[in-house]
Amino acid sequence: MSRLVVVSNRVAKLDSTKSGSQGGLAVGVAAAMSKAGGLWFGWSGKIESAQRSEARVETAGNIDYATVSLNQVEYNQYYKGFANSVLWPLFHQRPDLMSYREVDFEGYLSVNEKMARLLLPLLRPDDTVWIHDYHLIPLGGLLRRAGITCPIGFFLHIPFPPLDLLRTVPRYRELITALMEYDLVGFQTDVDYRGFQFSVVYGLGGEALPDNCFRYRDYECKAGVYPISIETDTLREVGKTGEASEEFKRLEQSLTDRQLIVGVDRLDYSKGLPQRLRAYENLLRTQPEFIRKVVYLQVAPVSRGDVKAYADLAHQIDEQVGHIVGTYADFDWVPLRYLNRGFRRNTILAMYNLASVGYVTPLRDGMNLVAKEFVAAQDPDNPGVLVLSDMAGAADELDAALLVNPYDSEQVTQGLAEALSMPLAERKERWQSMMAVLRDNDIHHWQERFLEDLGQFR
Ligand code: F6P
Repeated sequence: MSRLVVVSNRVAKLDSTKSGSQGGLAVGVAAAMSKAGGLWFGWSGKIESAQRSEARVETAGNIDYATVSLNQVEYNQYYKGFANSVLWPLFHQRPDLMSYREVDFEGYLSVNEKMARLLLPLLRPDDTVWIHDYHLIPLGGLLRRAGITCPIGFFLHIPFPPLDLLRTVPRYRELITALMEYDLVGFQTDVDYRGFQFSVVYGLGGEALPDNCFRYRDYECKAGVYPISIETDTLREVGKTGEASEEFKRLEQSLTDRQLIVGVDRLDYSKGLPQRLRAYENLLRTQPEFIRKVVYLQVAPVSRGDVKAYADLAHQIDEQVGHIVGTYADFDWVPLRYLNRGFRRNTILAMYNLASVGYVTPLRDGMNLVAKEFVAAQDPDNPGVLVLSDMAGAADELDAALLVNPYDSEQVTQGLAEALSMPLAERKERWQSMMAVLRDNDIHHWQERFLEDLGQFR
């Protein structure tokens, strides 16, 4: 059987009791790899000036973890620069936050070259290589040109932008061409797939062939839609273990009989936190019957804090939180609890189950696994309600959530009010419908579908 080689910028060891600030990619890939085993290659998360000529390999269970460090210049140009100050804002439809520098693009290419150089000696002819996310778009082509002949696939965890936005990156054609060097390119949703199709045809002048295949000059690739998912069947059990934690008990006791609204997001402008806070404030202002009856807990671990747009966002949210608390809090009630740190995964899942409302309203999101995990963590006899942005990839599958447009503050406020008052029968009906979707497409199904399609290129 072919060995699976996963490559991603972040590499995370799987431990269901840890986590907090880990994003969807790390959690999803870790769950997928726990079954298949194999090699997981990526950045160690460390910045070191002394560079090693080979990756550091550690084995845990059925997974070999091979990691490389970055030096400060590489980190600035590749991670902080091109990946997170160009691709991330642009792909999340925020060209206003994009800051392009040619030197960062060159740094991005040279870190991809370094990754290829250090990965090559670890590869075997019968491997299947699966590369993840926007940090590593050029890597597949680099491996190909270095003589690797095994199937190489790519999965984009974030949205793929419309061509009109993509064109704002001066070297956008190189990005589309680099994607075409893969055998198979996977997207979260149909909209992302169509964005790619349009870019190949109108951005490069390539052709869309039958069977989801594309051609441009000598390049040919196949593309498809593979919505990432979660470990649907086990999350409720993991959540139950979190109920024993000190943090959970303190939260539960502190609520008394108030309804809990919960949000868990990296502190990122794509998550729409200022808009979310505004809609909550509107609820307290326009529907005072909810005052003292609800508590909104927003967990938001700091992320990419050394990128200016993130520091500005943190500042803006601090002001808003202060305003809401100052305006509405009482001696014995605080309407909003805002925590800039991550928590253990089982505590978070237990919290989801305790909550009446999961408040997930990103302005744009590739998938959003918090939405899916919130659903899977619920008690079937008394499920909470998911208020979900229709700009998240998850909305395509979770159409039984209360879908809202995160730019329409009044609609979000109304969604919150409806969720807080929803009768049990309707909550159950919506939850059952969402769970059926999540059982059909869990994380293992996602992985199997992609790898089966990629296997056709052997
Ligand atoms: O797909 C996006 C992603 O890779 C997710 O894993 C997560 O939401 C985030 O980006 C992690 O960001 P970073 O690795 O920069 O902390």
